[in-house]
Amino acid sequence: MPPKHRAAVTYEAPPNIALVKYWGVRDPALALPYNSSFSVTLADMRSHTTVRFDETLGADSVILNGKVATGGPRDGVVKFLDWVRTMAGFDARADVRSENNFPTATGLASSASGFAALAGAASAAAGLRLSDRELSQLARFGSGSACRSVFGGFVEWKAGRRADGQDCFAESVYGPDHWPELIDLVVLVREAPVKAVRSADAMQTSVRTSDYFAARQKEIPMRLRKIRAAIGARNAGTLFPLIMEECDSFRKVCETSRPSLDYLTSTSRAILEAVRDGNREAGRPIAGYTHDAGAHVHVFTLESRLKGLRRDLATIDGVEETLVVRPGPGGHAVDR
Ligand code: DP6
Repeated sequence: MPPKHRAAVTYEAPPNIALVKYWGVRDPALALPYNSSFSVTLADMRSHTTVRFDETLGADSVILNGKVATGGPRDGVVKFLDWVRTMAGFDARADVRSENNFPTATGLASSASGFAALAGAASAAAGLRLSDRELSQLARFGSGSACRSVFGGFVEWKAGRRADGQDCFAESVYGPDHWPELIDLVVLVREAPVKAVRSADAMQTSVRTSDYFAARQKEIPMRLRKIRAAIGARNAGTLFPLIMEECDSFRKVCETSRPSLDYLTSTSRAILEAVRDGNREAGRPIAGYTHDAGAHVHVFTLESRLKGLRRDLATIDGVEETLVVRPGPGGHAVDR
């Protein structure tokens, strides 16, 4: 007989920002990406998630940020719990409570931290003892980018080649303390539109319709190697142009999709321009931008340049706020 009430487990996970973007699913059933991606795990922000399976519950109960979840967000969690139930070999319903310590409305990758935290809490609550690598393989079923939030610091999600997905997982490349001077200045844009289509669906429009998709795939492995090496050597002058090149390539694949995908506002574009101008004026790369499928911009720079850059970017019309974020630790279980 399975236990009627299993213990609740809490797990916390941070968001991450991709320096090499995941954009294209090669196998939707196994959530396998076309290309490897690379990210920085962000400090201080996290999703805090508690899961308890209970044989006496008639349905899953999902509370997100204090409110009963409905529609798409609820369906995503239930579908994910179904994976965990299949793996664990039982079908008890669950009580899920999740809170972000940062406003979800800021558009900062809450699905990455949310599904990494759900993977950690639900798998342990179901009695599965997964390694971090296995946890990353589970988390991607909720949201691809979530697999990278299991680890801290600088993380690579390896696309792998195998049809069964065994060689597709995330792993830590450099720890959170590898490069303390590197800062992600998150520039929040006022009136950032709410994403109408999930990235996982939007990227398939690019796979099907962008004439640039195949060329981008060819460019990525070399760019990823160079970005990895620049971070390894803590070489900002090499890193910043590379992350902008990658971001521009991601944006081009979006813009050449049919219908075209445009995530930026005029304020976001002004931020990109200001970073390019700043580098031109300094005569060398002092900052590098990147953005995801949203209007906010992450500007990477070094501690020594932070003050001036922050002051300049804050004056751009339409900028709501700038947050100073550092590389941080990955997901972990929380004792209650
Ligand atoms: C542009 O499938 O992880 O952020 O829709 O947030 O679940 P959600 O996205 P996901 O796609 C992420 C796309 C990206 C690039 C990246 O993080 O690698």
